[in-house]
Amino acid sequence: MHCPALPDGFDFTDPDVYQSRVPLPEFARLRRTAPVWWNAQPHGVAGFDDDGYWVVTRHQDVKEVSTAPEVFSARLNTSIIRFNQGISRDQIEVQKLIMLNMDPPEHTRVRQIVQRGFTPRAVRALADALRRRAEHIVGEARHKETGNFVTDVACELPLQAIAELIGIPQEDRARIFDWSNKMIGYDDPELAITEEVGANAAMELIGYAMNLAAARKECPAKDIVSRLVAAEHEGNLGSDEFGFFVLLLAVAGNETTRNAITHGMHAFLTHPEQWELYKRERPATAAEEIVRWATPVVSFQRTATQDTELGGAHIKKGQRVGIFYSSANHDPDVFDHPEVFDITRDPNPHLGFGGGGPHFCLGKSLAVLEIDLIFNALADAVPGISLAGDPRRLRSAWLNGVKELRVRYR
Ligand code: HEM
Repeated sequence: MHCPALPDGFDFTDPDVYQSRVPLPEFARLRRTAPVWWNAQPHGVAGFDDDGYWVVTRHQDVKEVSTAPEVFSARLNTSIIRFNQGISRDQIEVQKLIMLNMDPPEHTRVRQIVQRGFTPRAVRALADALRRRAEHIVGEARHKETGNFVTDVACELPLQAIAELIGIPQEDRARIFDWSNKMIGYDDPELAITEEVGANAAMELIGYAMNLAAARKECPAKDIVSRLVAAEHEGNLGSDEFGFFVLLLAVAGNETTRNAITHGMHAFLTHPEQWELYKRERPATAAEEIVRWATPVVSFQRTATQDTELGGAHIKKGQRVGIFYSSANHDPDVFDHPEVFDITRDPNPHLGFGGGGPHFCLGKSLAVLEIDLIFNALADAVPGISLAGDPRRLRSAWLNGVKELRVRYR
């Protein structure tokens, strides 16, 4: 289907588009005129053996796709909507070892096991340690006159949170961070990370996690690794399954939270009345609005397991379907004035953590805790923080990423 409102060849997964902006006006046009729209692509450009994908833009349709795994599979072509360097069928097979790319019943089994490490109690238990970390991170930044908020503040807490949760020894944490960054940044030439470097980093991280699992099996500690792998039977993860789980955590928990924090800071600094309100009242609703506003994951994808209809479009078996959280989070049928950054927004049924199906973000409460802790620390220690430059964006097909945000801390 041709959409006359969009320039010919426009692609909602084009990394060059996201290097300058999230295409919110284009999403708005589709929501009004063709809410489920076929985005044609030159053959194989997304890495798959096909000629395009469906763009799902409305809140209700993103939810529908997310909650019907029997019709919309995460497994057939993975959840990632574009592999710029291509992906072979063999590589897709390997991706199925990551729970984000599994369907029920395999997904249900793994999810039930790993959920044990993410109970509200397990997350609450990290709060004191992470509060101290957040205060330390902001305290260090405060000594500088100006700096890059992304590397000074936003990067560190998400890494520490995952490391703390898993029980990774302090001396290994820098290595884990380095591997995580290499795995995610390969679409951005400025980061000079080749696909090979990314793949090697992933292998090293998996190897590290498998060794950790083996060690904890021998000698259990009071951490999530020990709880998940303690004895290898039906109700636990094998060491290799644990390796792929840590790989997913490193990607899913770092870049996302880091970008929520960075976009949140930028939103506060460009909406000073919201920063004043935050400093005064610290509303509990702020973190969710920051995630809606940032929507760090622009999209994931599913693949139709059968012919089906969605939002008036006829989707054929085997076609890919992109679920665009960024668009859903600006749907005026659900949000009053979605273009307004309002930290008291309540209710706030945003889909930044997913559309509520089986893959709904496992780390949501941890992410919300981290965002709360870091902005509380910032409001206490650097209340006069101000912008010192425009954000420089990451080149990526599906992440709303920022590489640099210059700020003045004092
Ligand atoms: C603001 C920060 C975050 C955002 C915006 C975010 C977003 C998402 C989204 C959109 C999904 C897919 C949902 C779906 O397909 O329905 C997801 C899944 C996931 N997230 Fe997060 N996430 C964040 C933080 C975290 C953190 C801190 C962790 C862990 C430490 C984490 C772990 C995961 C895992 C393991 C999955 C896969 C769950 C599954 O397949 O069952 N995320 N996240």
